[in-house]
This record gives sequence, structure tokens and C-alpha cells, in this order.
Amino acid sequence: MDHFYLSLLLAFVSLVTLTTFLVFYRHVSRYSGSALPPGRPGLPFLGETLEFLRSGWNGHPEKFIFDRIHRYSADIFKTSILAEPVAVFCGAAGNKFLFSNENKLVTAWWPESINKVFPSSLQTSSKEEAKKMRKMLPQFMKPEALQRYIGIMDHIARWHFSMGWEGKDEVIVFPLAKRYTFWLACRLFMSIEDPDHVARFADPFNVLASGMFSVPIDLPGTPLNKAKHAANFIRKELRAIIKQRKIDLAEGKATATQDILSHMLLATDDEGKHLNELDIADKILGLLVGGHDTASAACTFIVKYLAELPEVYEGVYKEQMEIAKEKAPGELLNWDDIQKMRYSWNVACEVMRLAPPLQGAFREALNGFIFNGFSIPKGWKLYWSAHSTHRNPEYFPEPEKFDPSRFDGNGPAPYTYVPFGGGPRMCPGKEYARLEILVFMHNLVTRFKWEKMLPEEKIVVDPMPIPEKGLPVRLHPHAKA
Ligand code: HEM
Repeated sequence: MDHFYLSLLLAFVSLVTLTTFLVFYRHVSRYSGSALPPGRPGLPFLGETLEFLRSGWNGHPEKFIFDRIHRYSADIFKTSILAEPVAVFCGAAGNKFLFSNENKLVTAWWPESINKVFPSSLQTSSKEEAKKMRKMLPQFMKPEALQRYIGIMDHIARWHFSMGWEGKDEVIVFPLAKRYTFWLACRLFMSIEDPDHVARFADPFNVLASGMFSVPIDLPGTPLNKAKHAANFIRKELRAIIKQRKIDLAEGKATATQDILSHMLLATDDEGKHLNELDIADKILGLLVGGHDTASAACTFIVKYLAELPEVYEGVYKEQMEIAKEKAPGELLNWDDIQKMRYSWNVACEVMRLAPPLQGAFREALNGFIFNGFSIPKGWKLYWSAHSTHRNPEYFPEPEKFDPSRFDGNGPAPYTYVPFGGGPRMCPGKEYARLEILVFMHNLVTRFKWEKMLPEEKIVVDPMPIPEKGLPVRLHPHAKA
């Protein structure tokens, strides 16, 4: 169905943009001193949108990037995606340039479908307040703030494994991983723990997640339209939870540290002002969205690689069993345990090098500028791609080889390993994701070994990487000591 809407959209966009496109290119080549980056805008109407999407649908999003790196330039090339002229920045220097020029030469840009689902905090508050809120976000998600949640994560993980995995011969990993990360988010962001309440949120949430990156046609029944309704429903629920929490905090029935919502409600900005209720609802929604499919994709690919690489599984198993053996019966994981999971985290990092949950992200040029001698016009969209460095032998020798030791010592060179982005827009959920992934790995390997039921299962990237059938595996529980 989505492909039908895609055709409709492309036909529509073609008409609207043909004139703009021609005028734009003529204007740029006449007035800019330097040449535009090498590359081609593709078909007049479609640009290279289909090639870009198709390489992901075929499971090789890196192909779009590397074909053009080889054809045009290792540093930058131009293309056109969804009727927008796009400059793709490649390599460590390209990443560094985009990450360190945030709000100077470039700013965040999202495809139209995202803007429609999240009209952003601009509707609820001023641009300045939205900016302040973004500045405060990392403070709720930094390691010191998250340490106290590790036991809760382990508690939920145990519950999740006993309900979803134990006693089963076969499971499908991706939906289970999604259930795990969503349950954790509901508990840690808002203290929702009851599985029925979590499930009530999960349905609209899945609708939201699948419509967010869809074709931007907002008509009854389109994925985008459904996503907008789902987002409004979730916002309404969130506001009710926030209102109740304010009352509970005032009456001493809730604590300041019980979850991220309490932190946000009690935090003040530089001028001592509390955050606006609507902004908090938007930010919690943003965190739920940001952490939804990304961390579950990472967990799913960890299961996949550990099934394929028995020696890597053994290393993780050994590390996690050493930690488990030190614990008293029933004792939950803590911060010290997490620090001991070095090898496991190296494995997770190597998984995210080869299968980054997000392939890259867009920016927009705030003004015209020159990069590597090429002119980038104001308003052009810019794209950084994790693959341009992750699969580059210059930064990662034998890039196709799974080698967790790449992350020993100081690890990869700056700006080469970027699954979480970089600069001021680097993923604020990075540390949270690290904790939930490690807690997942601990609970998984201390319970099971497993094998893939579809050894050649295809990977589809749309926009996250997912095994086409969700990764069915056969479980082999460890004998109880
Ligand atoms: C393995 C898991 C994850 C990966 C690989 C990941 C990756 C990323 C990347 C690449 C970006 C975009 C950076 C850019 O625009 O350049 C991003 C943004 C974001 N992530 Fe994550 N993320 C993960 C988990 C999470 C989690 C668990 C949360 C929430 C708890 C989260 C919340 C966000 C938010 C709110 C943004 C938008 C930040 C902004 O625009 O300023 N992410 N993430």
C-alpha cells in the first residue's frame, strides 16, 4: 500500500518541482563562484529517490553511498532525494564538518512526514523555549542520572524473559525486542509498569512508528494520517499522566527521582523557570519515538550475530556468567556490573558498526558555504551516512569482518564511528541505550543459546534494518546449575 502512495506522491512532486528544480540549478550555476559537488540530480522528477530507497529495501543501504563515492568523490557528492537537492557528506571530515557546524552553517532537517506528525514544540511554545528544552534533555539522560535505573531495567528484563522467552522452543526476536524496549521506556520515563497499560500505549505507538517515515500524503487512511492521529492520542494520554503526576508530587505520593517525567517536572532552566507541560509531553513522546525501533533493532542484530558467530557468543557468555556468579540469588544488576561488561559492549558496538539502526540523518544549509572547494547553496539538504565511514577500509580494515577488538583501547578514530551521530545533535539516548542493550544481553546469554531458523533470512532497511521475517530462532536453555 505504501508503494502505491509513493507512486502518487512522486507523480505529484514531479509536477510541482520540475520548474523549481530547473530554475534553481540555473541560478546556482550562474551565481556561485565554485562548482557544485560532482554527482547527478537523477531523473528530472524522481531524482534518485528510488535508488536510495531500493538499496535499503534490498538490504544494502551502503551500496547507494559507495557506488557514488567510487563514481564521483570520496568526500562529497550531490544527488536528489524526495525532490530536494541533497549533498551527501562522506568520510570522517564530512561528519566532522556537519557535526561541528550545527546551528552555524547547518541545522536539523527532517522529511515532510516527520514534520507533519511532530509539528514540534513550536506550536506549543516559543522557538527559544524549545531550544532550552533540547539543551536540558541530556541532563535527564546522562550516566549519573541513569545509574539508579539499572536495577529497574534488570527487573523488567527478567519479567520480560520469563513472559516472552522462557518455556518456548522458538521465538521471533524483533517483536520481542520491541516489547522489551517499549516496556522499559514506559517504566523509566513515566512509571507505567502494568503490562496491560503498556499494551494500551503500544498499539498506537506502532501505528505512529510505521507512519512516521511514510510518504507525506495526509489523506484519511494513509499511513501518515494514521500516524498523526496516533501521535495526538498518545500526547493526550501523556498530558493526563503529567497532570496527575504534578498532583502526586505536590501531595508527596510521587518522588523526584522515580522516573524521567518527575525529573523534567522538577527541573528548572537557567532562569529558574519550570518546563512547560506541553513541551514535556512532546519531549517524552520524542524520547519514546527516538528509542523505539533503534534500540530494538540493535538488540535484534546482536541476537543475529551471536547466533552466527559461536566464538563471539562464547566470549559474551563467559563475561556475563562471571558477573552472574558473583551475585546473590535474586540480586539485580548494578552500575559496577555494567562496568565489567567490556567485551559485551565491544560486541554491541561492532554490531552497530555493521548494522547501524539509523543509516544517517539530514541537515539543511542555513547559508551558502564552500566545502572542499565545492559550493553548497543555501537551503540544500545535507546528509551524513554512517556507512561512509563504518564500511570504509581506510578507517576499519577488512570492514566486512566482525571484529569486536576494534573497540579496545581508544577505539576508532574520531568521527569514524557514528551510530549515534555527533556534535550537539548526538543522540541524547546513547547512554540509556547502552544500559538497556547490556541488560538485555546479560539476561539473554545467561538463559539461552540459540540458532537461526532461517539461515539466509533477508535484511530489509526501511528505514531501520530488520530481518525480513523478524528473526525466528530456536532456543536452547542452559541446564540449571
Ligand atoms: C541503539 C540505539 C540508538 C541509536 C543507534 C540512536 C541513534 C540516533 C541518531 C543517529 C540520532 C540522530 C543524530 C543526528 O541527527 O545527527 C538520534 C537522535 C535522537 N535519539 Fe537516538 N538512538 C538510539 C537510541 C535512543 C534512545 C533509547 C532514545 C531515548 C531514550 C533516543 C532518543 C533520541 C532523540 C530524542 C533524538 C533526537 C535528538 C535531536 O534531534 O536533538 N535514541 N539517535
